[in-house]
Amino acid sequence: MRDLLTRMHTWMARYMKSFYSDDDEVQRGILIKETHTGCVTANCVELAKFLKLSTHDTQLAEIIGLFHDAGRFRQYSIYKTFNDADSEDHAALSLKVIDDLEFFTELSAEDLDVVKFAIQNHNKKNLPPCSDERKILFAKIIRDADKLDIYRVLEPFLAQKDVDKMPNFIKSKSRLSADISPDFVENFVAGVQADYTKIRTNGDRKIVRLMWLYDINFSWTMKKIVERGYIEKIVDNLPRDEKVAEGIKRLRKHVEEKISEVIV
Ligand SMILES: [Fe+2]
Repeated sequence: MRDLLTRMHTWMARYMKSFYSDDDEVQRGILIKETHTGCVTANCVELAKFLKLSTHDTQLAEIIGLFHDAGRFRQYSIYKTFNDADSEDHAALSLKVIDDLEFFTELSAEDLDVVKFAIQNHNKKNLPPCSDERKILFAKIIRDADKLDIYRVLEPFLAQKDVDKMPNFIKSKSRLSADISPDFVENFVAGVQADYTKIRTNGDRKIVRLMWLYDINFSWTMKKIVERGYIEKIVDNLPRDEKVAEGIKRLRKHVEEKISEVIV
């Protein structure tokens, strides 16, 4: 499968470059996605190795990482946005890209099913019920690999205290953008994932990203998130009160438990 992977990498590199633009803003967006694709692919491989998967399965994880956001490029070229709500589900677009590629037929039908399931569900709030353990395993790998890199991408924004530097679409929703809405505080204390669509403040946004930690599947990923200081950078900039402190305490306990989990 290494030969197939080499061809896939070559194709993807060319594909991403085909979206390069003279428009600075477009180019910035495409480059962010190109870097993200490389980082997530590397995360998938590292995580698969940590899980001691076979060479074949490690390569399958690499393919999933490489193509998970292939739809982002088509999405941006058609809709000029990376916002799924304003355009189309980018995971569904990634599957359309894959369906047009001849070399995916070189995978076994079973492996192709795994790849498609993992990519389709990499960005969903929860995984759908599925009795196929292999599909679930690879979906969990890409979800972790993706979140780990999104923390890297979002870090400068999440750590930011200065309201004036926030993007306009966040500022316009609240004049108190550093505060956390009461329902988000309640969810944080209860350890329940908040509803993305109800984000009203910059504080809410930070809470949503912190709550992702409850959806991290493997100790390897959690360790990386802690080592890179993403949690502290977000937590340090949260407005503090008793309830927020309680939510943080609960979160830290969960992080500790996940890190000390042993893979059998
Ligand atoms: Fe994605």
